[in-house]
Amino acid sequence: MEVPEKIKPDWKFDTRVIHAGQKPDERTGAISQSIVPAVAYAFPDTETAAAIVAGRQEGTYYGRYGNPTTRMLELKIAELENGEDSIGLSSGMAAISSSLLAFLQNGDHLLVTKDVYGGTFSFVTSLAPRFGIQYDFVDCTDPDAVRKHIRDNTKAIYIETPSNPLLTVLDIRMLAGISKERGIPLIVDNTFMTPYLQQPLDLGADLVVHSATKYLNGHGDVLAGFVVGKKEIIQLIRKKIAGDLGQNLNAWESFLILRGMKTMGMRIRTHCDNARQIAEYLSLHPGVEKVYYPGLSSHPQHELAKKQMRGMGGIVSFEIKGGMDAAKAFMNRLSLAIISFSLGDPETLVQHPASMTHFSIPAKDREKFGISDGLIRLSAGLEDPDDLISDLDRALALPLPEKLKKAD
Ligand SMILES: Cc1ncc(COP(=O)(O)O)c(C=O)c1O
Repeated sequence: MEVPEKIKPDWKFDTRVIHAGQKPDERTGAISQSIVPAVAYAFPDTETAAAIVAGRQEGTYYGRYGNPTTRMLELKIAELENGEDSIGLSSGMAAISSSLLAFLQNGDHLLVTKDVYGGTFSFVTSLAPRFGIQYDFVDCTDPDAVRKHIRDNTKAIYIETPSNPLLTVLDIRMLAGISKERGIPLIVDNTFMTPYLQQPLDLGADLVVHSATKYLNGHGDVLAGFVVGKKEIIQLIRKKIAGDLGQNLNAWESFLILRGMKTMGMRIRTHCDNARQIAEYLSLHPGVEKVYYPGLSSHPQHELAKKQMRGMGGIVSFEIKGGMDAAKAFMNRLSLAIISFSLGDPETLVQHPASMTHFSIPAKDREKFGISDGLIRLSAGLEDPDDLISDLDRALALPLPEKLKKAD
C-alpha cells in the first residue's frame, strides 16, 4: 500500500483519520481531495497499460475497476483498519456479497452468526443458495457450537459484532483462533464500531467489511461499502467479483465520505456518549422491559466489550412493555427522534426491526434470533442528550392508546 511519507506510525486516531492516505495535490496544492469523474484513463505506452490491468503496477484503467478519488479513500480506510489494502463499493451489501463470493462457490458451506443485519440474512438465505451455497446460523458466543457446525466444505465464517439489532458482542480473537485452526477465513462486519472503536484484523480476522453508509460517512447522504484485507483477496474482489458485478463506488460519493471522515473521531465520541446516557436512562424506566447496550454492566458480554472495543458504540436497542403495538405507539409519539431505517447519522433514528429492517426474516426465525415484536433499535445522533432523553421520557409517559390498556 502507498502511504504518504508524512504519516507517522505513532499518530493517534484523530490525526490519522485526517491525514492517512491523503496529502495535498502535487500539481495544484489543493488540500481538499479532487473529484475525478473520468471513466477512461490514458497510458504512455501499451506496456504500462498491460502492467496496470494485470495489477503489476498501481494505477486506474477503467471506472468499474477503480477511481483515483475512491483510491485515496481506500488507502485511508486500509490504513485505519491496519489492513494491506481495501476496495470501496457501492453499498455495504455490495461489500458483504462480494466478500462472501470471494470465498464461496457452488457446493461450499458458510457458517454465519445467528443475528445479522436483515440484508445479510436475505443474501445468505435466498440469493446464495441459488448458486449452490449452503449455510448454518450458529450461536457464535459458544465456541463449541462453532466447532460443531464447521463442515469439511465450510469455506468462510461470517460475523457481525456488536450485532444488529441485539448488540451481541462476539469474541473476535477466540473465533479467529478457531478459524485459523481449521484454515477457514473469518469475515467481520465492523459497521457498528468503525476502526476508531475496533480493529478486527489486529484480533486475527482475515477480512473486514463496512457499510460506509453509516458512521464512516456519517451524514446520511451516501450509500457505500468497504472490504479490507490482504492485497490478493482485495485484487480478486476488484477484478473478478465486484468488477464483474459492477459494484464500484463513484468519485462523488468517495469525496463525500473523505469529507465526512475528517470529523469521525469527534462524531463517534458524541454518538457513544449520547447512547450511554440514553441506555442508562432507559434501563431505569419502568415502561421498558429490557435494554441491550454493551456498556451496561447487565449486558451479557460487558466484560468482553470492555476488552475488545475502545467504546461501546452509538446503538441502543430496547424492548417496550406491551409488545408490537406498544412499541409502535411509543415510536409514533417521538417528536425529536426520527423513524428511519438507517443508523450512524447526526439525527437520532429509531426503527422497529420486526416490521422494518428485519421484516424479511420469517416471524419464527426472528423469535429464534431474539428479535421480539416489542424491540426498538435507536441510533443515538449528535443532538444534545438532554433533549433526546426528554423526547423519550415524554413518549414513554404519555398514556397508552385505549386499545392497548387492557393488554398491558
Ligand atoms: C451492520 C450492517 N451491515 C451492513 C449493512 C448494509 O449496508 P448498506 O445499506 O450500505 O448496503 C447495514 C445496513 O443497515 C448494517 O446495519
